[in-house]
Amino acid sequence: MSILLTGGLGYIGSHTAVEFLENNQDIVIIDNLSNCNIDVVDKIKLITKKDFKYYIGDVRNEDLLEKIFSENEINAVIHFAGLKAVGESVKKPIEYYNNNLLSTLTLIKVMQKHQVKNIVFSSSATVYGRAKSMPIYEDFEVTATNPYGRTKLFIEEILKDLYVSDNSYNIVILRYFNPLGAHESGLLGENPNGIPNNLMPYICKVATGELECLNIFGNDYPTKDGTAIRDYLHVVDLAKGHLKAIEKIYTNCGLKIYNLGTGIGYSVLDIVKAFNEISGNKVTYKFSQKREGDIDVCYANVDKAYKELGWKAEKTLKDMCESSYNFEINNKKNR
Ligand code: NAD
Ligand code: UFG
Repeated sequence: MSILLTGGLGYIGSHTAVEFLENNQDIVIIDNLSNCNIDVVDKIKLITKKDFKYYIGDVRNEDLLEKIFSENEINAVIHFAGLKAVGESVKKPIEYYNNNLLSTLTLIKVMQKHQVKNIVFSSSATVYGRAKSMPIYEDFEVTATNPYGRTKLFIEEILKDLYVSDNSYNIVILRYFNPLGAHESGLLGENPNGIPNNLMPYICKVATGELECLNIFGNDYPTKDGTAIRDYLHVVDLAKGHLKAIEKIYTNCGLKIYNLGTGIGYSVLDIVKAFNEISGNKVTYKFSQKREGDIDVCYANVDKAYKELGWKAEKTLKDMCESSYNFEINNKKNR
């Protein structure tokens, strides 16, 4: 019995693959390498000293999925595969709808054919838009402010409709807050192409001298220091959340939605300060205009995941900064 990880060579998928293999669970990966590198396969094997099957190809390719479900005994799917850059989604909406929605529909079609009714889906805190208050609970209203967010919202709705049509499905929707950090080996981490959009990859490149200075987007938000607040969680904690989600699936849980975050809000300046403490003040910054579409504050209430999954993020902000920096240095050496 194996768990299929779509997008399993990406940032969150690769860390999740390690957690499953280290827990002696068989996995199969499908990834089209659109946002990762094939060398991640060897890195996962090196870390875990375990082997696994992988297929390079697109989740929208029904024939390939058919082959995967025929050749392997898949009993659950964790669906990470998708495009995820908010700004890019505004410029290329159709690409985002095509990739994220069609991959999900094709996956469900083939799962149905093979009577596989267990799925964990990677959703995002982005579905809460500008929440009415903090912290954010799972039953808050959902909305979308960009095409990327809309794909997450639509897929959540598709999964809910699927469940209404057949409640023998077990569906866990995980709404991730802001994952940061890297594997302690320094082998796996977030490695975006070009100039990073997200905060931590940008900070890392300033620390190693690849980029000159961090632009902090906005310093007049109504927060303690004027910079925006997010709920950052370590990617290894997040990966462990998927083990718990699969355990939950095996209890025949029906459809469940969980926030995965720490429940703590840190400002951009908190992150820079924590990073500078571990890197020896390597990150210089200046304040610039607010980024369009950014919200001021976003953090989760995480009680439901603790009560129902027995999951809680354990790693600290220092762990997130240290592991990110370690990965960046390691990765730069090997570039
Ligand atoms: P990632 O880009 O590193 O990983 C996604 C992987 O999916 C990549 O390896 C990519 O090559 C693959 N992929 C994309 N489309 C595919 C397709 N059609 N067929 C096969 N493979 C495909 O992203 P990530 O940060 O690991 O995110 C994983 C999931 O979590 C995504 O669905 C993302 O939207 C969601 N998410 C991420 C964050 C975040 O901040 N990283 C936050 C909330 C939600
Ligand atoms: N920021 C800067 N300078 C930068 C980059 C970011 O000041 O160069 C700030 C942003 O303005 C924001 C914070 O750092 O206040 C975090 O920004 P990120 O881009 O790292 O993350 P976001 O919260 O904007 O969004 C991320 C993902 C989304 C996802 C969301 C919630 O990119 O896909 O988390 O999970 F939906």
